[in-house]
Parts: sequence; C-alpha cells; structure tokens
Amino acid sequence: MRQYLEDGNPDPISVKLYLTEKCNLACDYCVYKDRISAREMTQEDFQYIAGSLFQMGVRSIVLTGGEPSMHDKIQDMVSYAHFKYGFDMGLITNGVLYNGIWNFKWVRFSVDTIRDATYEKIKGKACLQKVLANVEIAIEDKRRYHLDTTIGVQMVVTEDNHREILEFLEYFSEMDLDYCQIRPVENARYKTETINFIWDQLEVARQMEGSSQTVLTDYKWSEVDNNYKKSYEGCPGAKFIGAVGVNGDFHICCTFMNHPDSKYGNLIKDRGPEILKNRDQVLKKFDYSKCPVGCQGSLINKYLIGIKKIKHRNFI
Ligand SMILES: C[S@@+](CC[C@H](N)C(=O)[O-])C[C@H]1O[C@@H](n2cnc3c(N)ncnc32)[C@H](O)[C@@H]1O
Ligand code: SF4
Ligand code: SF4
Repeated sequence: MRQYLEDGNPDPISVKLYLTEKCNLACDYCVYKDRISAREMTQEDFQYIAGSLFQMGVRSIVLTGGEPSMHDKIQDMVSYAHFKYGFDMGLITNGVLYNGIWNFKWVRFSVDTIRDATYEKIKGKACLQKVLANVEIAIEDKRRYHLDTTIGVQMVVTEDNHREILEFLEYFSEMDLDYCQIRPVENARYKTETINFIWDQLEVARQMEGSSQTVLTDYKWSEVDNNYKKSYEGCPGAKFIGAVGVNGDFHICCTFMNHPDSKYGNLIKDRGPEILKNRDQVLKKFDYSKCPVGCQGSLINKYLIGIKKIKHRNFI
C-alpha cells in the first residue's frame, strides 16, 4: 500500500497460476471452457516460475485452471513453493479429485448445487456425491491434523440452480466450514423473474449471515443490482495481482488469461522482475470496457479508490 500511495508501483502481491488446462468436468457457465486442453505446466517450469515470482515480490499463489487437482505433481509443486519461497498457497478446485489440503492457506470447492440432477445439468457429469464426500474429507483432515487451512464452498448462481440458494446454504451450514460463498455468474445476465427470485433468497440469506459462516460477496451482487455497471473506471488494483498461464505467460488478471493485449511477458523467457517494465504500457493501452462485474479486481478497486480519497491520513 505504501508503494501504491507513494509512486503507484506496488509489487504484485498475489497471482493466480494455471497448473493445467485439463478439466474433468464441463460446466456450462465456465469462463474457461473454450480453453480446456491437454496443456500442463511442467514441474521444472513451475520451479523456475516460482523463483521469478518471488523476485517480483509476489507473496501468494492461487492454483486454478482448468482443474489443478488433475496435475499429478500438484503436491510436490505446492510443497516446493511453500517451503522454498514461503509462498502462501490457495486452491480453487471442483473437488472431484482430492489431493489433500496440506500447505494450503485456503481451499475453495466449486460445488454449485446439492442436487444430483442439477449438478449433472450444469457441470456435465454425475459426480456430486464424490465431491460432497471430498469436502467432508477435507474438513476431517483439517480437524485431525490441526491445520489452519480456510475451507469454503461456492455456488455460482445460474438460471439452472437459482432456486436452490437457501437449501445450499442450509446444507453446508451443518458442516464445519469456514465460509459458503454465493456469487453471480460473470458472463451472463439473469432474466427478470430469475433475478427477483434471487433477491428474495439473498434477503433471507443475509439474515442467516450473522449466525453462520455464509459469505454473500455483496459487492458482486451490488454490481448486478447496478445494472451491470462498475462504480469505477479502469482497474487501479491491477498492479497488485496477475495471472500466470501453463506456458509461463504473465497476464493482467485471470479474466484475460491468453488475451494478447493483457500480456506483460513470459516468465520462462524473460526473468521475473524484467516483465514488470512492460506493465505501465500494457495497463495504459488496455480496453477495460470488457471487464465483467464481480471480477477479481472489483473489491480491490473499490478499496483503493476509497483510500485515495482520504484527505487527512493521520485521522482514522
Ligand atoms: C475456471 S475455475 C478453475 C478451477 C476449478 N476447475 C473449479 O471449477 O473450481 C475457477 C473458478 O471460476 C468460477 N467460474 C467459472 N466460470 C464462471 C462464471 N462464468 N462466473 C462466475 N464464476 C465462474 C468457477 O466456479 C471456479 O470457482
Ligand atoms: S470445473 Fe472449473 S475449469 Fe472445469 S469446466 Fe468447471 S469451472 Fe471450468
Ligand atoms: S477484469 Fe477485473 S481484475 Fe481484470 S482488469 Fe478488469 S477490472 Fe481488473
């Protein structure tokens, strides 16, 4: 924050990293579905990239994809990044496979529904019971091994599951989870009757929020409520984040992974901090009109704009 306020050039604190483009599901809403392929990051490249990210000042790495649990070296890679460089690690997974939660600061399971039929319709495969069992195993591992890993589940609300918000929350409130996140779909708009039904359930869910671990990610819903408009221009928080593809390409954020205009460079060809020399130029030329509501930068941007507005910073 000091770097940001003083010269506008903070180190990227946290990056999303694509271990693999393979996936064992086919979610109909997936922003990444057109890019699913057999490509993976090699263990050697991962180690090199981790070193570069460390030199750039990165402190945390979130594994995503594709489905990161499909990489057969995931555990070795996580241990390497955590123990060699002290990175805090996060994992976003569909939970069909379970490789343990050791060395992760947080793990989020993308579950979406607790109904078998809805699961198969949205996610393309009948394996909900396997996923629910894996969430329970993760909770049990956390208890048994006294881990401090934050474990959450997520529902992306679509036309197919929008009537199930409350039953989803009720089901998971019985478990010893840290949070249960309900978020809007990024790349589609709801029908009027659907959004009205969602608002009614979210109102009940907000009342549950105080008494359970529910997180509604309100800023994402308020952008939907604001007719899909953001309350800020550009992306002031872009310098705090980044996304690394399976081939080492470094992009502004995960939304624009593989988009040529959002690429700073390649972490295998260009040594770490060198890549940031391009950053100002890429960010200046970038067209932010395609940024979806509720993206990774939304909350960061609102926070940063608020901070910049503080006139007398020695008063709270
Ligand atoms: C692309 S997935 C990759 C990780 C993993 N395969 C999974 O599903 O958790 C990362 C996250 O993006 C979410 N996601 C994908 N498409 C989305 C969309 N259109 N709107 C909101 N979230 C989306 C998924 O639910 C998941 O939580
Ligand atoms: S499991 Fe994840 S990567 Fe795979 S299709 Fe679903 S959202 Fe996309
Ligand atoms: S999608 Fe979000 S995080 Fe990415 S550049 Fe746009 S505002 Fe920033």
